[in-house]
Amino acid sequence: MSYPYQIKSYEEYKEAYKKSTEQTDSFWAEIAEHFTWRKKWDEVLNWNFTEPKVEWFKGGKLNITENCIDRHLKTMGDKPAIIWEPNHPDERARTVTYNRLHKRVCQFAQVLKNNGVKKGDRVCIYMGMVPELAYAVLGCARIGAIHSVIFGGFSAQSIADRLYDANAEFIVTCDGAYRGEKVIPLKSVIDDALIGNRTVKKVIVYTRTRTPISMLKGRDVWWEDEMEYAESQVEKDGVVSFPAEEMDAEDPLFILYTSGSTGKPKGVLHSSAGYMVWTNYTFVNVFQYQPGDVHFCTADIGWITGHSYIIYGPLSAGGTSLMFEGIPTFPDAGRFWDIVEKHKVNILYTAPTALRSLMSFGLIPVGGRDFSSLKVLGTVGEPINEEAWHWYDEHIGLRKCPIVDTWWQTETGGCLISNLAGITPSKPGWATLPMPGVQPVLVDDQGNEVTEKDENGMLKGNLCIKAPWPAILRTTYGDHERCKTNYFATYPNLYFTGDGAIKDENGFYRITGRVDDVLNVSGHRIGTAEVENAINMHAGVVESAVVGYPHDIKGQGIYAFVIDSNTHGDEERTRKDILQTVTRVIGSIAKPDKIQFVKGLPKTRSGKIMRRILRKIAEGEIENLGDTTTLLEPAVVDEIKNGRL
Ligand code: PRX
Repeated sequence: MSYPYQIKSYEEYKEAYKKSTEQTDSFWAEIAEHFTWRKKWDEVLNWNFTEPKVEWFKGGKLNITENCIDRHLKTMGDKPAIIWEPNHPDERARTVTYNRLHKRVCQFAQVLKNNGVKKGDRVCIYMGMVPELAYAVLGCARIGAIHSVIFGGFSAQSIADRLYDANAEFIVTCDGAYRGEKVIPLKSVIDDALIGNRTVKKVIVYTRTRTPISMLKGRDVWWEDEMEYAESQVEKDGVVSFPAEEMDAEDPLFILYTSGSTGKPKGVLHSSAGYMVWTNYTFVNVFQYQPGDVHFCTADIGWITGHSYIIYGPLSAGGTSLMFEGIPTFPDAGRFWDIVEKHKVNILYTAPTALRSLMSFGLIPVGGRDFSSLKVLGTVGEPINEEAWHWYDEHIGLRKCPIVDTWWQTETGGCLISNLAGITPSKPGWATLPMPGVQPVLVDDQGNEVTEKDENGMLKGNLCIKAPWPAILRTTYGDHERCKTNYFATYPNLYFTGDGAIKDENGFYRITGRVDDVLNVSGHRIGTAEVENAINMHAGVVESAVVGYPHDIKGQGIYAFVIDSNTHGDEERTRKDILQTVTRVIGSIAKPDKIQFVKGLPKTRSGKIMRRILRKIAEGEIENLGDTTTLLEPAVVDEIKNGRL
């Protein structure tokens, strides 16, 4: 495969950027020509941010799996699509060629059909990082079902909420998932999530860990049996086929739940054609992918990074995507580096939190490895601190690999602001320039564009985007009003990202972090309101307030201030109980790092918690709390300050 739209110089980037804003339709039409369509579009773009309504390639007909698989079969059928590295290094890695991927996806699409799944149905996927997860995702896309992948770390309660919100009728899961030394009992979590559920009709279970499970007659079926039966249906005389459903460009492709500033995660919905074009375009350009390169994105497919840069981006480009089942520290902190050497990885894409955690083990786990295959390094998920950036550059990239700092979100589908590897300049800690098609703007709290530079010559403000790019979210599932309020109502006619940013004299952007009540813990998005809701479910808790604070490894840690009704109780026990409650309600990723018991919370006279003050206390800035005179009971602040953990 070649990529005629791959940008090869800084000059070409500038030209592409200019064209994307001045002649948007023809810019994207030229790129979209390089995909497989059953029917071309009637209109490139139709949009307004007031409803909001965004349509790309309207009237076009396609199926994303024909773009990710079928179109590569003739010339690349025996080339690796997925290289799978298991949790345990002694287990054999698997290579899935495009031919094999085609067969498995056709088989699984048939399995879904046999089990009554139709176009538009919601299928929840709760699996570990096994190739079967990719088959399940692509099998859904092939028959036009909407997949909703849920990260294996979420609790039964979280799954139940997501199943209910999406009105999902089907689940694909595993008996269990390996994560380092641990086995996560996925099927039993699903069983708990299904207590009282009346909508789910079928649960398809893939065997991975041989964890004992129970199967409910009539509802639960085995992946292996179903696949075997489907094989005879899709394969005739050695020829495999399962006709892909013809999808409208704007038909939904998937839902992915993510946290916002309210207590309830929202189902971000992405559509077919725009998402495909954007993930492919950004993959090819940001990483400067060359045919044959091995791309290792270390994210879990339960997050957007895995959707876009393990599955859809690389496969639509005919690339080779490395999928890793385990964790960076098992069996030791050299695991990523072993994988890079073993599979001759060319592009490594990971999160700053993973780098910081690996840095803490020193240089011994890095030593003695052959990193000569590496060409490009990338980071995603949170701002990268300069120390981690330089460590990555020096010890992994050996100062010869460009590092791309990719800023984007679940809602944006793919990278929006990033340097292009080796093509546009990089600057440690800065995501730098917008992708062609992306028009960022910094606004003040009133929504006015910031034009005055600060004392360092920087513009500083809330990061918004002026016009749609192809993979902008289309709605939040089942609640379009919420989509409007969350993203398009804060500042009229702008998409508001929830992030703050600064811009330098070269037009480079540095993302400074969330400006709303969303935390970024180890690159995972968690709403403070969600954690508070979970803590408040503990019987002894009267009220709580959660804020973030700087954490050396996780980027941000979770600090909870809790009013406990049991004033003479055992604090240690209550603390443990609260942690358990949060794990049960959300999952262990949302467990507070610090819980401080307090007698009261700083509130305004209208009863609103003054988080600004709590944030400062959590950050250790206790001397400079700003104006506290408007507080209902200023004395609680001293008590909280004195009890700070
Ligand atoms: O705050 C930004 C941060 O992660 C948020 C999006 O989280 P999520 O939807 O889970 O997607 C993560 C993977 C794309 C953003 O609002 N963020 C993401 N990438 C960066 C970043 N912050 C700074 N620099 C980045 N490169």
